[in-house]
Amino acid sequence: MTYETILVERRGPVTLVTLNRPQALNALNSQVLADLIHALEAFDADESQGCAVLTGSEKAFAAGADIKEMSTKGFADMYGGNFFAGYDRVTAVRKPVIAAVAGYALGGGCELAMMCDFILAGENAKFGQPEIKLGVTPGMGGSQRLARAVGKAKAMEMCLTGRMMDAAEAERAGLVSRILPTAELVEEALKTAELIAGMAPLAVKANKEMVNAAFETTLAQGIAFERRLFHAIFGTEDQKEGMAAFVEKRPGVWKGR
Ligand code: CAA
Repeated sequence: MTYETILVERRGPVTLVTLNRPQALNALNSQVLADLIHALEAFDADESQGCAVLTGSEKAFAAGADIKEMSTKGFADMYGGNFFAGYDRVTAVRKPVIAAVAGYALGGGCELAMMCDFILAGENAKFGQPEIKLGVTPGMGGSQRLARAVGKAKAMEMCLTGRMMDAAEAERAGLVSRILPTAELVEEALKTAELIAGMAPLAVKANKEMVNAAFETTLAQGIAFERRLFHAIFGTEDQKEGMAAFVEKRPGVWKGR
């Protein structure tokens, strides 16, 4: 399958999705959203695929939603058409998606990276929510996910001033899990994705689901949810295999059931 605005490549059990609108620094227009949803849902449905990496170019992961596409729209277009609601389908993907961010991740770019399960940053990465400078606000979850990721003080300052955070600050603040040399970012992200794709598939989905539950529940509800899912995993063949493999000092061979 070929797309207009993204490149999709399979590397064994890993799907690499590259945003590919270099002329607009990967600005996210409606076509990017349509392509992205199609590719990510195909990845999620494909049993041979275990983890995805979403990346951009060395200059820009994505410089935001496409300002030129939005500039003439009014309330009826935005509210009536529920603009950006399609991005909920990105977060509905059940297998892990890693964001490999080099260069600018601004506005919708930062928001898209935060929709992924974790962010690996190149040394040159820059994160920001500069919508305030355009007279608007984040619209793809930035005010909510940034506040949860880095806390109120930094989120509020970034949303109110449009200040960018570099990779080192983003790592200190907990927005990114690791910083890598920019030239090695994608290969390292692919290695991490391959590691995840080599784990028991149901346990991977369950781990993703329970960490995400931490952002939607009270602590007591989250712990109860985790415990029930942990109990349920003992109904899988892969739990028997994983624990037998440990005792027999050999790698586990997963069935995905
Ligand atoms: N939308 C549309 N086009 C964009 C874009 C965007 N978000 N960001 C960059 N581009 C385009 C530029 O218009 C330019 O196109 P032309 O050559 O046709 O003029 C091209 O990409 C290259 O950009 P620059 O010449 O500006 O590159 P630069 O290196 O000088 O600057 C930058 C890079 C600092 C990232 C600058 O491009 C910039 O500030 N971009 C906008 C960032 C922004 O405001 N993002 C938020 C968008 S709103 C949003 O995302 C809402 C939301 O919550 C979802």
